[in-house]
Amino acid sequence: MQVNLKVLAGPYKDRVFCFTQPDTFLIGRTSDSHLYLPDDRFFSRHHCLLEISPPHCLLRDLGSTNGTFVNGSKVSEAALENGDKIQGGETVLLVEVVSGETADNSQPLVASAKPIIVAVQCINCGRSEQAQAATSDEHLTFLCEDCRAELRNTPQPIPGYEMIRVLGRGGMGCVTLARDQKTGRGVAIKTLLPEFAVSDKAMRRFLREVDVAAALKHPNIVEFIDRGVHNGVVYLVTEFVDGADAAKLADSRGGHLSPEDTISIITQALDALSHAHDHGYIHRDIKDQNILVRSSGNELSAKLTDFGLAKSFTQSGMSGVTMAGEMAGTLAYMPPEQLKNFRDVKPQSDLYAVGMTAYSLFSGKLALNIGRKTSMSETIKAIFEQPAIPLRERAPEVSATVCEIVDRALVKNPEERWQSAKAMRNALMHAG
Ligand SMILES: Nc1ncnc2c1ncn2[C@@H]1O[C@H](COP(=O)(O)OP(=O)(O)O)[C@@H](O)[C@H]1O
Ligand SMILES: [Mg+2]
Repeated sequence: MQVNLKVLAGPYKDRVFCFTQPDTFLIGRTSDSHLYLPDDRFFSRHHCLLEISPPHCLLRDLGSTNGTFVNGSKVSEAALENGDKIQGGETVLLVEVVSGETADNSQPLVASAKPIIVAVQCINCGRSEQAQAATSDEHLTFLCEDCRAELRNTPQPIPGYEMIRVLGRGGMGCVTLARDQKTGRGVAIKTLLPEFAVSDKAMRRFLREVDVAAALKHPNIVEFIDRGVHNGVVYLVTEFVDGADAAKLADSRGGHLSPEDTISIITQALDALSHAHDHGYIHRDIKDQNILVRSSGNELSAKLTDFGLAKSFTQSGMSGVTMAGEMAGTLAYMPPEQLKNFRDVKPQSDLYAVGMTAYSLFSGKLALNIGRKTSMSETIKAIFEQPAIPLRERAPEVSATVCEIVDRALVKNPEERWQSAKAMRNALMHAG
């Protein structure tokens, strides 16, 4: 399936931007916009951002001065459909949603086909709904909204495991403590609830990507045990870390951690990343909640989890947009280049998120002048436009050297950040 943005009027008239995979598209007067409109005073520097995950396409105005218009109405956010027109200044863009199979990175489809709508049934309750498909005979797995909400609260049992209790809920699903009936071992099972009807092909692709990430073995990476699909729900079984994620740990200690504990956690996370980057993996979703910490005596052992999961989930079409709605809380950790070029991220992008995590653990605050509840569009604008607030201003008890190490991870330009996890780790070890 594919989304096309066809320019009907304005300086790029007749150009067509085609999306066969999830991506973002920035419109504005800043030179790294995808639709760069330097001479049209109507537009703000970062005017609006489209998140595309064919066949879905979400438009977000980034607090622009003159507003973003869809079919003549001013919108702050809009789910776009085939035939919608986005207007601003002299520019008019037509949204086309095209059905049909596309092999990865293949030539885009000709924009003549209309979206194919098929009937789908919820695998849990049988309720019928409509969904967009690539072909009319494609088999789609679908969970209705009510069942998704229910399964998020009470995950269904997985054969071979005895479910014990829910450990936490995140943007993609729910994590349960369970016992492996064969080995008796305690494990964590994450069940992933697709937001949209998914094809068998997408599901297989997702599982392949999970298998690739599962090959990462390191003492500071949560061990992968098993995965599968049960009643249309994908589940991932990993080692259970009997402790708390770093966010909960910080909460339990009054909002932030001591400099020593933060340095210990962050250097262990950097060890894990150094290993992963050497093997060509980028995490893409580093945050306090994805570092699981166990304490024994005065020692903290930290393990990184959810390698590449957010990206695989989105790429497979299970999440409708590149930045799933519920990621809002941690969207603030994303580096600007990841927002602009969702698929093309580098090790330095992970290091920015490590910087954000370290900042939050040291100070209990975000490095940008926004709150954890600030809207997504304001957060995105802040990521693009606001320099990070130097850590020293927020955590005066942390040494100047350590603060500079964190600040250097948070520079907007990836080339001016730490260039490797190892370099950042070594600097921290020597400073702390
Ligand atoms: N392997 C695990 N062992 C123990 N707790 C876990 C494990 N994996 C996840 N959790 C807990 O479950 C919560 C939800 O996880 P997740 O769905 O990945 O959402 P998020 O990472 O956004 O918090 C985590 O914050 C963590 O506290
Ligand atoms: Mg997680």
